Formats: sequence, C-alpha cells, structure tokens
Amino acid sequence: DLMSDLLGFPKKERRLADVLGIDHVLIVSGDCDSQPRVLESMGQLLNKTLAVLLPDGENIIAAMGGTTMAVMAKELTPALAKQRDLLFVPARGGVGELVDIQANAICSEMAKQTGGRHRSLYVPEDISERTYQPLLQEPSIKSVLDLIGQANVVIHSIGEAMTMAQRRNMSAEIIGELQEKQAVAEAFGDFFDESGQVVYKIPRIGLQIPDLTEVPYVFAIAAGQNKAKAIRAYMHNAPQQTWLITDEGAANSLLKGA
Ligand code: BG6
Repeated sequence: DLMSDLLGFPKKERRLADVLGIDHVLIVSGDCDSQPRVLESMGQLLNKTLAVLLPDGENIIAAMGGTTMAVMAKELTPALAKQRDLLFVPARGGVGELVDIQANAICSEMAKQTGGRHRSLYVPEDISERTYQPLLQEPSIKSVLDLIGQANVVIHSIGEAMTMAQRRNMSAEIIGELQEKQAVAEAFGDFFDESGQVVYKIPRIGLQIPDLTEVPYVFAIAAGQNKAKAIRAYMHNAPQQTWLITDEGAANSLLKGA
C-alpha cells in the first residue's frame, strides 16, 4: 500500500508478512537451493538486523541447530557485541544430529564470531521421557535450562519434515506415520502438516513453541523454494513478533498461491 511505499518498506516483504500472519519479513535476492551464497547474505542480513534491534547490555540468545543455522553462525561479527554482553545457549537438546550442526556447535561458533560467551546442553534428542526427567535435576543441565528460559532472543530454522526425519534416523514406523499424516514441516521438534497442525512431537527438553510468545526477538531463518511449504506450515504456529529472513525462491513460491 501507499503508506508502506512511502515508508520505504518493500511491498513484497509487507505482503508476505501479511500472508504469513507475522510482523516482519526480510527477503534477500536469489534462491539458496541453487545458489548457496544466498544463505551467506541471509546471515549478513541477520547480523545487521540483530545489531540494530538488540538492546544494550545483557542478551541471552537461544539458537537451534541445522545446516541453515550453521551458515548464520559464521556470518555474525564482533560488531554485534559492541555495548552488549552476549550469551548463546542451545534452545533445545539437539544431540543426535551431526556434530557440526548441533545447537551446541552453532552456539559455540556464534560466540567465537562475536566474542560472546556460550553454554552447552548435553542431552540426547532421542531418549524417553523417563530417562530425561531425572536429568533435568542435574545442576549442569538445570542451569542451562534456566538460561534458555530467560532468553530474550531466539534464532531458529524450519526443516522439511522428511529431510529431518531421515537426518535424525527416525524409525520406519514413525516415518510411515509422518507420511500418513502428511507432515511437511519441522521446527523445535514438532512436525506439522500443511494446515499447521502438529502431527508428531519429538519429546525434548528446552524451548517449546508456546514459550516463544514471551520472547521479544524471534528470528526464523529458512529459505529456498523447496522450503516454501514447510515455512507456510510452521508460520501457522509462529508468534506474531517473528522476523522471517528468507530468499526470493521461497518468497515467490509462498506469494504465488496467496
Ligand atoms: C534442526 C533443528 O537441527 O535443524 C530443527 O532441530 C530445524 O528444528 C532444522 O528445523 C533445520 O535444518 P536445516 O538443515 O534445514 O537448516
């Protein structure tokens, strides 16, 4: 609309934010599916946006894992830590993925890039509730969980359901269930169908989607035409204040049907 044109907000970003029902969308050009460099420019945009938005002083930043987040981590810079005390904590367990893309590794890299601090959470993803409940009482785990609860920033990606199920070595039985229930997206251990319904949950400790409502700055980083469906499905559950950082590949596909 005219107002957003006058204020200089690119129309496409405003339109996509409206379609997805969230407050903010930032789009970089290209499609990361065919041009991996696009993810790097998304990382630079994340760095710039955080530098503008985050308050001075202490910031507790909870980060998720994944290949997208691994690229984001590498693009953060010491400029972010100017006037700020940054502490990176893994948003959830996450052990069980390849080491380099676990949330612990992402947090360590983010701390290294910015000159901030980080903490690790050593709890496997795929253990039963009975096994992990007593772990929650362990001081080394409890102190990190408390920090996660105090996070004022969350940075996460959104995965495609089947890619995530395979990467996590989920059983043929569960993969069958996900297919039957037409899961298309995964975030925070929850799998969603196209309408945004949770069709499967990996029991895990740490941050859950309902907790995001209380977090002032939430960044969802997901791009590429192949992820468009997953982005749309997750966004039915995203908190209003979410910033989606994406690319034209995903954005054009999301706007096509809208
Ligand atoms: C996982 C996170 O590590 O990465 C998921 O636990 C996330 O919540 C996923 O959706 C995204 O992975 P990628 O590789 O597509 O960025």
